[in-house]
Amino acid sequence: MKRRSFSVIPLFAAGICLAVLVLVAPSEAISHPKYKLSGNDIVPNRYVVEFDEGDSKSANSFVHSVQSKFKKAKLHIAQEFEHNLFNGISFGLNGLDEKDHTEALKSILDKDNVRAVYPVRAIPRPEVNFEKASTKDKTPTLLPHAMTQVDRVHSELKKFGKGIKVGVIDTGIDYLHPALGGGFGKGFKVQYGYDLAGNAYTGYNNPVQDSDPLDSCTAESGASGHGTHVSGIIAGYDEKTNFTGVAPQATLGMWRVFGCKGSVGSDVLIKAFLMAYDAGMDIISVSIGEKNAWSSGPDTIVAQRIAEKGIPFIISAGNAGSEGAFTVGMPSTAKDVWSIASVDNDFQLMKKFKASSIAEKLGYSTSSTKLVDGEIVIGDKNIGSGTDACNPSNVPDLTGKLALIQRGGCTFDVKAASIAGAGGIGVIIYNTNNGDAFVPSNPSATIPVVGISTKDGLAILEGIKAGVETIKFDNEEALYPVTTGNLVSDFSSVGASYQLDLKPNIAGIGGRVFSTLPRFLGSWGIMSGTSMAAPYVSGSVALFIEAKGYKKNSQIISQQFKNHALKLVHAKGNSAIQSPLLQGAGLVQVYDAIAGKVRVSPTQISFNDTSSFAKYKTQTLTIINTGKARTTFKVVNEPSIAVAPYNRTAQGYATLAPTGFSNAKAKLTFSKTSVTLNAGQKTTVRVTVIPPKVNPKDHIMYGGYIRFKAGNQKTALDVTVPYFGVVGKQRDLPLFDKDYPYLSDPTGTPVFLKNQTYTYDRSNTKTTPTIVYRLLTPTAKFDVDVLNAKTKKSIGKTLTDSTYIPRNTFATDNFMSGVSWDATYVPSSISDIQDKVPVPSGTYILNLRALKLLGNPKDPKDWETYQTGPIVVKN
Ligand SMILES: *[C@@H]1O[C@H](CO)[C@@H](O)[C@H](O)[C@H]1NC(C)=O
Ligand SMILES: *[C@@H]1O[C@H](CO)[C@@H](O)[C@H](O)[C@H]1NC(C)=O
Ligand SMILES: *[C@@H]1O[C@H](CO)[C@@H](O)[C@H](O)[C@H]1NC(C)=O
Ligand SMILES: *[C@@H]1O[C@H](CO)[C@@H](O)[C@H](O)[C@H]1NC(C)=O
Repeated sequence: MKRRSFSVIPLFAAGICLAVLVLVAPSEAISHPKYKLSGNDIVPNRYVVEFDEGDSKSANSFVHSVQSKFKKAKLHIAQEFEHNLFNGISFGLNGLDEKDHTEALKSILDKDNVRAVYPVRAIPRPEVNFEKASTKDKTPTLLPHAMTQVDRVHSELKKFGKGIKVGVIDTGIDYLHPALGGGFGKGFKVQYGYDLAGNAYTGYNNPVQDSDPLDSCTAESGASGHGTHVSGIIAGYDEKTNFTGVAPQATLGMWRVFGCKGSVGSDVLIKAFLMAYDAGMDIISVSIGEKNAWSSGPDTIVAQRIAEKGIPFIISAGNAGSEGAFTVGMPSTAKDVWSIASVDNDFQLMKKFKASSIAEKLGYSTSSTKLVDGEIVIGDKNIGSGTDACNPSNVPDLTGKLALIQRGGCTFDVKAASIAGAGGIGVIIYNTNNGDAFVPSNPSATIPVVGISTKDGLAILEGIKAGVETIKFDNEEALYPVTTGNLVSDFSSVGASYQLDLKPNIAGIGGRVFSTLPRFLGSWGIMSGTSMAAPYVSGSVALFIEAKGYKKNSQIISQQFKNHALKLVHAKGNSAIQSPLLQGAGLVQVYDAIAGKVRVSPTQISFNDTSSFAKYKTQTLTIINTGKARTTFKVVNEPSIAVAPYNRTAQGYATLAPTGFSNAKAKLTFSKTSVTLNAGQKTTVRVTVIPPKVNPKDHIMYGGYIRFKAGNQKTALDVTVPYFGVVGKQRDLPLFDKDYPYLSDPTGTPVFLKNQTYTYDRSNTKTTPTIVYRLLTPTAKFDVDVLNAKTKKSIGKTLTDSTYIPRNTFATDNFMSGVSWDATYVPSSISDIQDKVPVPSGTYILNLRALKLLGNPKDPKDWETYQTGPIVVKN
C-alpha cells in the first residue's frame, strides 16, 4: 500500500552531475502533537508507539482495539519494549487503504495511554573499509596501547577487564574465532547476546530473531565483519600471535542488529539497547549512527535514559569529518552519552610491491582481493588535477595496463569505473597532501584498486615518464609508521551538535586499527572509523571499572577519563592544540584516569552563541581532591585552534568540507587563579569568557581547555576541562542555498520561476509539482501550507510536523532534497487530526516554512519562507 505522497526521485539538475533528489520526510496524513516525525529514511508503514509508564497490558489491548475497528488491518507487532525505561511496541500496519490507514493511526494517537508515535527510521550500517592482514609477530608494535597508557594498565596494574561485562550492539560476532573465545554462553568470553536481525534483514523487511548472535554471513554476502572487529578491539586475545585487545579478560555481550547487508530499523536498535541493559552490561558500546547532529528520535531517547541510569553508553561520533562542522551523529548526540572521536594509530601494517624503477619495495593498502601485476601508465591526461579519472573523457586508452592516478574529486568507485571503461586492468591511487598509503573504499569496483602514499605515487610517475614501468605485488607485510599517527583522523566527525552541545566528548584510537575479522573473511584485518574508536574507549572503561569500581556511575567515570585525557596537536607542523570540537576532551589516557585523585566538573563547557551569551558566559567549576595530599593548582586557559565552518567569500554559508580553522582565541577570567585543596576538600571557580573579536558573520567556533595545573606533579596530576563557544548568532544563518528552493517537475528540471504557471494533471504523475531545496543550515521544524492563489490565504497544510532535518552536504546523495505535492492537504478549518483530502481543481501556491537554527518558533522573524508561483491543479 502506498502510504506517502512524497517520493524519492533521482534528479539531474543543471550543473550538478549525478546529484540525487532525496526524500526529506514522508507526508503522513497526520497532524497530531503526539505524532513525532523527525529525520530522514523512514521505514514505510512501521511505527514505534510509547505507552504510559507501567501500563503493562498495553500491547495486547492495543492490537485488539485496532484490529476490532479495522477488520482488514494486518497489524504485526515487530518489537515489544515492556520496560520501565521505554514502555511500548513497534508495529507494522498494512492491508488498509490510505484513508483507513490514517484513521487507524488516528485512533491509536487518540488513546489516553499512548504518549507518542514515531515512524521507524532506517539507520545505515557503519561504513568501513577493511584490509585483510596476518598477525605474525608484529602485533605488539601494531597495537596502539602505548598511545593510551593501556600498556601500563596491563603491565603495571595487571588489570585486563576481568569480570567486567561489555555489551556490543553490532553486526554479530564470529565467536568461534580463537581470539574471541571459541564459543558462546556461560564460561566463554562471549557470554551474552541475541540475534535481533537474521542474515536477510535489511532494516526495511521483518527481522528473523534467534538466540545466537553469530555472524553467519559469508564472504560472498558482502558482509564486512564489523562486529567481530569491534569485539576484538575490546576483548580479543590470541596467545599464538600476542594480539591483545584493550580489556582481554572482559566478558562480552553481542546484540546483533544487522543482516549481512543493509540498515537497521530504529525499533530493533531500541530493543537491542534495552536487552543489553537488562542483561546487566556494565558498559554499552555502539558503533552505529546517523549523519544528523540533532538529538531526537526514540533510539536517542532510550540511549539517554540508559545513560541516566549510570551505564557508560559509548557511541561512535561518525565518519563524516570530510563534510565539515556539525557532522557528529545521533544517537551519540544524546546529552549523557559518550560521543567518541577517532585518532590515528602510530603504526600500520602494509603489504609490499615492487615498481621496476625504484630499488626498495613500497607499501600499499587495498580491500581488493585479486591484484594483478603488469605495466603501469598514466590514467588521466591531467594527472594530479584533483579530479583524476572522474571524467572518463580524460582517461586515455589503457587496454591491458594498470593505471596511476591521484586521489580526489570523486569516489574511488567512479575512478575505477573510468579506468575499467578504458580497458585498464587495475588502478593505483596515490594520496593527496603528502598523505600515507590508504585503503580506498570501492564496493562496486570491477578491477582491483590500491592506495599508496603521495611520495611513492610521484616516484612511480617519474618512472613512467622515464620509460616502461612495471608493478609486481607481494604478499609480504611490513610495519610502517603513520604520518598522521596521534592526530585526530581526517574522517572523524566534527562537532558541535546543532544545539551547541560539546560533541564529540572524548577520543579513542580508530584510524588503522588491527583486530579480528570473521574467519570467513580471513580472521585478521585493519579497519578505520570512529566505529573502532568507540570500542577502544569501551575497553578502556572496562579496565577502569575493574581497577576502581564505580559501576553504574558513568558520571564519575567520565569525569576521571575526560579530566585526564591527552590534548593532541592540530597537525604535524602545527603545534596549536586541536579543537575540542574534533577531539572532545582529548585522547583517553587510561592509567591517569585510574590514578587521578582530583576531579573537576562539569567536564565540558559550552558558552553557546552570541544570542544566549548572557545566560552562558559565566559558569562554575567544582574541583574536588579525593586524594591524601594537599595540592595547589594554578588555573590557566589553554586556547585551541578555532573551527571556522564557513568561508563567506568562497562559498557563502555552505559549510566548508572539510572544515576550515582559525587562530581566533577566547580570553577567560577566573574568580581564582590558584586553588589549594586539602585531602577531601572541594572548592568552586567561576569562569567567564571574553570571546575573540572576530566578525560575527563568520560564526567562528573558538575553544580550548581550562587546565588546573598541579603545583607538585608527584602528588597530583593536571586536570582539564574543554570549552567552546560561537561568535555570532546561529539563528542568523541562512537556511536555503542561493537559487533554492525552486518549483519543478519530479525530475527537478525545468526550474519554474514565480512568474511562471505550473500545471499539475493529477492523472499524470510526471507532472507532480516538487519543491527542490538545499539546506545550508539544519532546521528543527519544517512545514508546507497550501494557499489559495487569489486570496493568498492558507487553506491548510500539506506537510506538517516534520522536525529535526539535517543540513544538505556536498555528497551526491545528499546534495538536495525534494518535497512533492499530490494536491492533497489537511484542512485547517478543523483543528483536530484530519485526513488529507484532495484540493478542488483550481490554482494554488505552496508556502514552505523552515525554522532558523536555535530560532524561536513563536517569532515570525525566525522562520525562513519560500512561496512557489501559481500551481494549476487539473483533474
Ligand atoms: C607478547 O606480549 C608480551 C606483553 O606485551 C611481551 O612481553 C612478549 O614479549 C610478547 N611476545 C611475543 C612473541 O611477541
Ligand atoms: C544553547 O542555547 C540554545 C538557545 O537558548 C539552547 O536551546 C541550547 O540548549 C543551548 N545549548 C547548550 C549546550 O546549552
Ligand atoms: C576564503 O576563500 C578565498 C577564495 O577562495 C581565499 O582566497 C581565502 O584565503 C579564504 N579565506 C580563508 C580565511 O581561508
Ligand atoms: C520572470 O522573471 C524573470 C526574473 O525574475 C525575468 O527574467 C523574466 O523576464 C520574467 N518573465 C516574465 C514572463 O515576466
